[in-house]
Amino acid sequence: MIVTTKQLFDVAYGKFAIGAYNINNMEQALGLFEGHKQTQAPFIIQISRGARDYAGVKMLENIIRASEEMYPESIFAVHLDHGTEEVAYDCIDSGFYSSVMIDASHETFEKNVEITKRVVDRAHAAGISVEAELGMLGGVEEDIQVDQKHASLTDPQDAKRFVALTGCDSLAVAIGTSHGAYKFSGNQGLHFDRIEAIQKELPGFPLVMHGSSSVPQDEIQRINQAGGTLDPSAKGVDANEFVKAIPLGVTKVNIDTDGRLVWMRVHRGHFRDNPSNFDFRKPGIAFIKAYADFIDHKSEKLLSKGQLEYVRKQLSK
Ligand code: G3H
Ligand code: 13P
Ligand code: ZN
Repeated sequence: MIVTTKQLFDVAYGKFAIGAYNINNMEQALGLFEGHKQTQAPFIIQISRGARDYAGVKMLENIIRASEEMYPESIFAVHLDHGTEEVAYDCIDSGFYSSVMIDASHETFEKNVEITKRVVDRAHAAGISVEAELGMLGGVEEDIQVDQKHASLTDPQDAKRFVALTGCDSLAVAIGTSHGAYKFSGNQGLHFDRIEAIQKELPGFPLVMHGSSSVPQDEIQRINQAGGTLDPSAKGVDANEFVKAIPLGVTKVNIDTDGRLVWMRVHRGHFRDNPSNFDFRKPGIAFIKAYADFIDHKSEKLLSKGQLEYVRKQLSK
């Protein structure tokens, strides 16, 4: 069942976080729905501009609609990830999306407010909620590369002003994470003092944590043992830290890279062990199963595992 992102946030705030996963194809969708059935958790499907270009807007929409039919007990929202103004309008007008993200975080504060406000007005008129971004995450995000030097944490006072000026429904905040496989070097990590300070300014307001993949060391090792050449110093967010971020208002946790690593591990391993196989369904089946197990593990860390029936009851009130 597709629900609004706001409905999920209202139920989850302060108790658990909703995992938000990017999908690009049928195998990811099947693994995502199967995994959430296994773990009994609600979730958010994210569609990036890259995914829309890759699979096509209609194909993605129909993969999701077919998955919804195949998994009638599922509860999820559909969200545009890192949207531009133009793509956000396209999603709002399509009537398919539960929410959109407008990412103008690379603009000045004033320009970010101006663009976000325009999107919020149009989205709210259509009953759709809006995630905006303030502060600058490091790493690669769609076509924009931000090096660690230019990444900047979200200022709590600015965050309060930004939300008041734009009317956005949730805010992606820069709190020490970055996109992609190469996140932390040295002793960097999540800045809990900053999340706490933002929550003080915005009590009860859902915060979104982008760049939340863990880039597990053993995953990197397995990939490299199967012929991959990923930097072994690659390091992400410790998933055990989600539990501390949840009471501080982090309600949506974006994970994409870790799912790509599952894909890489399964496929490299499969073709190493089965060099003459040309039936793509064989690694496909293995990937769907591995992706479902990965979702189960993440839901446990997000405290969303086992919350499905509670969410269903709250939504039916
Ligand atoms: O933050 C970006 C997400 O990981 C989506 O990546 O733009 O390559 O689909 P993508
Ligand atoms: P990761 O690169 O850490 O998976 O982050 C994904 C993300 O933030 C999507 O918006
Ligand atoms: Zn992101």
